[in-house]
Amino acid sequence: MKAAAQSARVVSQRAITGEIARIAAAYQGRGEVQPRLDYPPYRSSLLRHPRSPFVCVDPDEVECWAPCFGNHEVEPRDADLTAGHPGEPIGERIIVTGRLLDATGKPVAAQLVEIWQANAAGRYNHELDQHPAPIDPNFTGAGRCLTGPDGTYRFLTIKPGPYPWRNHQNAWRPAHIHFSVFGTAFTQRLVTQMYFPGDPLFGLDPIYQSIVDPVARQRLIATYDHDLTQPEYATGYRWDIVLAGTRRTWTEPNGDHD
Ligand SMILES: [Fe+2]
Repeated sequence: MKAAAQSARVVSQRAITGEIARIAAAYQGRGEVQPRLDYPPYRSSLLRHPRSPFVCVDPDEVECWAPCFGNHEVEPRDADLTAGHPGEPIGERIIVTGRLLDATGKPVAAQLVEIWQANAAGRYNHELDQHPAPIDPNFTGAGRCLTGPDGTYRFLTIKPGPYPWRNHQNAWRPAHIHFSVFGTAFTQRLVTQMYFPGDPLFGLDPIYQSIVDPVARQRLIATYDHDLTQPEYATGYRWDIVLAGTRRTWTEPNGDHD
């Protein structure tokens, strides 16, 4: 969800863009593939990033940490975010699909993929989101599925809209879908965001830009795939998620949900 305002001081987009540019210019191409936890243009990262090393925990010793779910609890209809309401949601229907891969490129089957997102107007169906865009009574914005034998996940949903947030004056997030992946094949839940190609807000967004490596950043953007489309019904996007290795998918900074 969207972060609360971090400061009463008005900071312009121009100032934030300048900060982003200075950090990018100083980046020496060292192959950073994860976002910087302390990334000053993303104001709340200054307050919320971890300051101590991560603690490794053996999931066998801490039972509640181990992902635990039964296949019978995930129904095929859970992957259709356009269903389950009296009417059709407003917006562009899209099919979002891809594969869950390990560090060697092998598919990872039977893992839980969850998504949540704003509606076509950029509004979350959540009490903390009060910006003046309409709630769609036919769209909740959450879905889940299990990866298939070839590591594939697939959702039918609505293309989300960009939305304002309070990092700085007139800040807008690029359209995105939040992803969570966890399961029995690995121990660390992966939480990230998928973006759409050609979004004009990429260069202005300090969350997206907190991955300073441009190649790693690009990996968060789905590919439009016309072969996925359904005539007169839905367009399609493809996006793979990599759990480990040098192509590991970006993890959302600071456990945030902006
Ligand atoms: Fe979001």
